[in-house]
Amino acid sequence: MSEMDKTIQGRTAVVTGAAGGIGAALAAELGARGMSVVVADIDGEGAKFVADKLTLDGVRALGVRVDVTDRESVQALRQAAYQEFGSVELLCNNAGVLLFGDIADSSIGDWRWLSAVNIEGMLNCLHAFLPDMRERTGWRHVMNTASTHAFLADPGHTSLYSATKHAILGMTLGLRSELAADDIGVTVLCPGQAATRIMDSQRNRPAAFGRKAPEPFGTGIIPMAIAPEEVARLAVEAVLRDAPMVFALPEHGYDMFRAQVEEMWRLADNALADRA
Ligand SMILES: NC(=O)c1ccc[n+]([C@@H]2O[C@H](COP(=O)([O-])OP(=O)(O)OC[C@H]3O[C@@H](n4cnc5c(N)ncnc54)[C@H](O)[C@@H]3O)[C@@H](O)[C@H]2O)c1
Repeated sequence: MSEMDKTIQGRTAVVTGAAGGIGAALAAELGARGMSVVVADIDGEGAKFVADKLTLDGVRALGVRVDVTDRESVQALRQAAYQEFGSVELLCNNAGVLLFGDIADSSIGDWRWLSAVNIEGMLNCLHAFLPDMRERTGWRHVMNTASTHAFLADPGHTSLYSATKHAILGMTLGLRSELAADDIGVTVLCPGQAATRIMDSQRNRPAAFGRKAPEPFGTGIIPMAIAPEEVARLAVEAVLRDAPMVFALPEHGYDMFRAQVEEMWRLADNALADRA
């Protein structure tokens, strides 16, 4: 076991969106490194399934159904976590949903759902867990899952999703400086093209948010993608070294991503030059 792993050994992590994909892989990675894990998801059965599997592997794990958009549900998650494990040292705000479509064709329900899960859901969890975390001493950390879409000037039919991820990037970097005085680390995880069910996000879209948006690229697994287990490994290592930001893409994706980020900077650079 590494020195860093000793830091988290025996501590407790709450991971939202952990019934599958990156969240389930994060739960497994943290469990393998000695943490107790609360596996939380709107898919309660899936969360329990993942937790049961971890338990069989010798991890202290609890599966809980949570809807991060619902503050009472998030408070119940907090209560369940404290009842079972007594404290929470790592909060992984990972639950997130995606839909495609251009802004002009979108519905207000599309935006309300994306922002309710991706932005407000994160805020609900921060409001629920931070007061206790701030009262404690010793190692504590928050990791928020954004996306490479937090950086793109041309998100390509995902402008609304991208807007939520830009918000997460801003929130998380701000949170990092806010929590520095409490000695709580904060990391933003930016995956891209991971092999999960993200393209089928609307499987969990409640009717209250209106009709489903079209799924022009299907609902399958993204091809030539990075494995969620690799995303989780990179993420946890970044958390352990208290990195502000971590990217996790398939190797072939980095050049294109870099070009897209440079395009964003080019826009800013041009605007700054225009000012002269
Ligand atoms: N897969 C990718 O390529 C990729 C790229 C960039 C960012 N991300 C981000 O990674 C995170 C995890 O996504 P994933 O790729 O593992 O997809 P996924 O669909 O496998 O996992 C998302 C999980 O969030 C859960 N969820 C949805 N609504 C919820 C709610 N209201 N309350 C609680 N849980 C809810 C879903 O049930 C699901 O288990 C998301 O924030 C996503 O935006 C993924």
